[in-house]
Amino acid sequence: MAFAVEAKDIRMTYGEGRARVEVLKGVDLSVRPGEVVAVMGPSGSGKTTLLNILGLVTEPTGGRLVLGGQDIYGGRFRPNLQRLRRERLGFIFQFANLIPFLTARENVLLSLDLLGLGGRAARQRADELLGSLGVAERAHLLPEKLSGGERQRVAIARALANDPKLILADEPTASLDAERGLSVMRLLRRLADEHGTAVLVVTHDTRMLGEVTGVIRLEDGAVQAEDARLVPLTKAPKEIGISS
Ligand SMILES: Nc1ncnc2c1ncn2[C@@H]1O[C@H](COP(=O)(O)OP(=O)(O)O)[C@@H](O)[C@H]1O
Ligand SMILES: [Mg+2]
Repeated sequence: MAFAVEAKDIRMTYGEGRARVEVLKGVDLSVRPGEVVAVMGPSGSGKTTLLNILGLVTEPTGGRLVLGGQDIYGGRFRPNLQRLRRERLGFIFQFANLIPFLTARENVLLSLDLLGLGGRAARQRADELLGSLGVAERAHLLPEKLSGGERQRVAIARALANDPKLILADEPTASLDAERGLSVMRLLRRLADEHGTAVLVVTHDTRMLGEVTGVIRLEDGAVQAEDARLVPLTKAPKEIGISS
């Protein structure tokens, strides 16, 4: 099976001279459709940097990146990154970052609008997305009227607007209590199982690992341990070198 994303020898250096910091020193990873891979590692180990590179937000200083079979960096041609991001990727962050003066539905509609979908079809799709995340009856509310878990569900609905092939989630459960965090992880797992979405999720919480198919541990700028094989649902992945 083709990889949803494949990274080879990804390097990232910030600054120059004495301020030079080598954050990623040659990261290799690959995620297949339907896999949910957790990225763990100490604070400052480059997890967010790595996600931003895989999400085509940051250009790495070196290495090869292939997204859905298409060469991004390191190939002969440079594809239209903005378009790839809009059409193929979904982003979820620690905080929902909803637009405060728009309702839940309008936040999702905004994403659909960016994809060129408007009118009744867009409203239908927005309600369908919110419904599939269990927040249909909250659609008319402003973010401030929603709980943290509900906001995160709306943010996920928004991230799914383009039916992404790859979801990049940076500590999506960190602002939630254990139960709500677990329910977000289950949602991600369900997407992977039912739609073949590939998911890369940064988390510090080992309780979330029951829902993932693999774990990557980032340390000293490289992947120190990896077990990204598919494992059956509800079975915890084999963990290597995870301390907390
Ligand atoms: N834009 C930037 N400019 C300079 N240094 C950065 C930048 N972004 C991140 N860093 C540095 O890169 C390292 C990794 O950061 P980050 O990717 O945010 O790690 P993590 O998400 O694992 O906590 C840190 O030392 C951070 O200070
Ligand atoms: Mg981070």
